[in-house]
Formats: sequence, C-alpha cells, structure tokens
Amino acid sequence: MTVSRDNQRLLVVTGVGGFIGSSLAGRLLVDGYRVLGVDDFSSGKRSNVPLGIDLVEANLASTALSDILPSRALAVLHLAGQSSGEISFDDPVGDLEKNAVSTLRLIEYGIGAGVQRFVHASSMSVYGSVSDKPVREDATLRPLSCYGVGKATAEGYLQVFSRRLPYVALRMFNVYGPGQDMSNLRQGMVSIYLAQALATSKIVVKGSMQRYRDFVYIDDVVEAWALALQRDEALNHAINIGTGVRTEVGQLLELITAIVPGTTVEFADNTPGDQFGIYADTTRMTRLLGIATTTTLQDGLQRFVDEVRTA
Ligand SMILES: NC(=O)c1ccc[n+]([C@@H]2O[C@H](COP(=O)([O-])OP(=O)(O)OC[C@H]3O[C@@H](n4cnc5c(N)ncnc54)[C@H](O)[C@@H]3O)[C@@H](O)[C@H]2O)c1
Repeated sequence: MTVSRDNQRLLVVTGVGGFIGSSLAGRLLVDGYRVLGVDDFSSGKRSNVPLGIDLVEANLASTALSDILPSRALAVLHLAGQSSGEISFDDPVGDLEKNAVSTLRLIEYGIGAGVQRFVHASSMSVYGSVSDKPVREDATLRPLSCYGVGKATAEGYLQVFSRRLPYVALRMFNVYGPGQDMSNLRQGMVSIYLAQALATSKIVVKGSMQRYRDFVYIDDVVEAWALALQRDEALNHAINIGTGVRTEVGQLLELITAIVPGTTVEFADNTPGDQFGIYADTTRMTRLLGIATTTTLQDGLQRFVDEVRTA
C-alpha cells in the first residue's frame, strides 16, 4: 500500500485539543511529521492545539469523514473520545457514539485513505474487575463501566478490520501530568486530587484508600505512542501502557500531601463502575515497543505541581 508523495508523512491525530492528543501532536511535529488534527472541543480546548497543526473541527461520530479528511494519509492516531468512566453513566449512548462509533467511522476512513497504521487510545477499563496481580493483555475483558464497554467494542472493530487496516491498541492506565484538565473534577484521579489540594487544601476521596492503580507519566505515554507508530512488531496487538507499579490511593495521597503541605482528606461515596484495583503487566510493552516507563510517581507529581505553579 502506498500513499501519495505529499502525504507520505501526514498523520491524522484526533483529540488534539485534549490532554494526551495535544502533547503527542507536539512531539510528532518535532519528529518531522505533518499533522492534521481533529477535535470537536467537547472537552478539549483550542488553546491546547500546538502551533503548526492543520486543524479540522468536527464531531467524528456524526460526520462523513472522507469529506473532511485528506484522501491519503500515512497513519491515524485516534485519541478523541469521552474519557471518563464516571461520566459514561450519565449518557451511555453518547459515550458509545464518542468512543466506539467514532472509531468505526475512522476505520472506514482509514481503509479508504490507504492508511498504513491505526494507533488507538484504548484503556485499562476494558479489563474491569481483575485479581491483585499485574494484568496481562490476554486476560478476559469484563468491563464494569459503559466507558470500558465502548473501548472494548472499539478494539473489537479494529480486530475485525485488521487485515485491511493494521492497528495497535494502546491500553493506557492512569495517565497524569502537565496539560491535564485541572477544571474537570470527574476525570483523572491525580489531576482531581491535585486540583483540590491546590485550590482548597482539601481532597475529597470517592471510595476506599486501599484501591490501587498504575500511574503513568505523560512523557512516557507520548514516547510509547511515538514507538507504536514505528514498530512493526506492535501491529495488530493490544498493549498495556503502564509502569507495572501498584500504588494504593493512600500512597498517592501521602505523596500529594507531602508536595502540597497542609492538605486534608475527606471521604465520600465511591463512583459507579470504578475498578477496585488494577496495574499493568508491562512485559508486552517492553518486548513490542522496546520502552520502559521510567518516571517515578514522586518525580512525575513534583514536575506536575511545578508546572501548575509556574503557569
Ligand atoms: N487520560 C487517561 O488516563 C486515559 C487512560 C486511558 C485511555 N485514555 C483515552 O485516551 C484518549 C485521550 O484521553 P485524554 O485524557 O487526553 O482525554 P481528553 O478529554 O483530554 O481529550 C479527548 C479529546 O477528544 C475530543 N473529542 C471527544 N469526542 C470527540 C468527537 N466525537 N469528535 C471529535 N473530538 C472529540 C475532546 O474535545 C478532547 O479534546 C481518550 O480516548 C481516552 O479515553 C485516557
């Protein structure tokens, strides 16, 4: 399969107004790619979109994509979506449209445009309830939230069309770091707690302190995406993107309260569809992408807080 000369280095990146998409798009420009960004700014911001990107403003779930996207492109990196498990229960149909229908439409576009690789923002939420050991990609998927169902469905479509459109599904764990939306108190455990600590010196924890997660720093995630774009070994695989480190909510709070002294903690009811505990087996990530996610939570949190304080 070939792409026209002009579009040999053209990438379509969706969700460029969001946390991860904007960071990744900036990195891809530095790597010498041309980037066409897509966003409907339903949660993202225009001010996040890096300079040097051609922007198409559109809702991917309800637009004829061949009319608005280039006729040929090298790859699609799909990060647009509704990204909160909690919010997915407010409007399950809307979540399905934003996460699964938009992916299916982009797959159809990618096949028509001779796209050579589709890299997809999947999530640890596809696993649902798992035992207390690092979760591997071949675990049975039992999502607990509408969000997780949408992400698993999107992966299913990618598998169905994989012979015509090779894919890489990156199952990201809890991504955190500079650029995260500090005004959204329903998405992103680290950004929610940090925003509360910095604004009111009081963190409200929804659920148990013994819950555990795998927190992975944004720069490590962007590196994983850049490698997923290049490594042929990764094609047609789902790959965990985490650190492999099991961190309890209580440990996260200790780190945050050390960085933001004087912060108190209160407890509230847990959120629907919340996984009790999950962390990644990173064997496949290391083998197929050749990457180790090296930023410790302490360093990542400190960098995040420094960035917020100087902004
Ligand atoms: N942040 C995490 O920890 C995490 C973990 C696993 C997976 N993910 C997935 O990674 C992707 C990016 O996450 P994020 O944290 O940057 O989220 P984000 O909300 O910051 O960014 C998502 C972007 O997609 C846009 N968007 C949403 N629906 C759209 C649509 N129908 N058409 C066009 N644009 C649309 C939003 O306006 C926003 O700019 C999402 O798909 C999310 O589900 C995120």
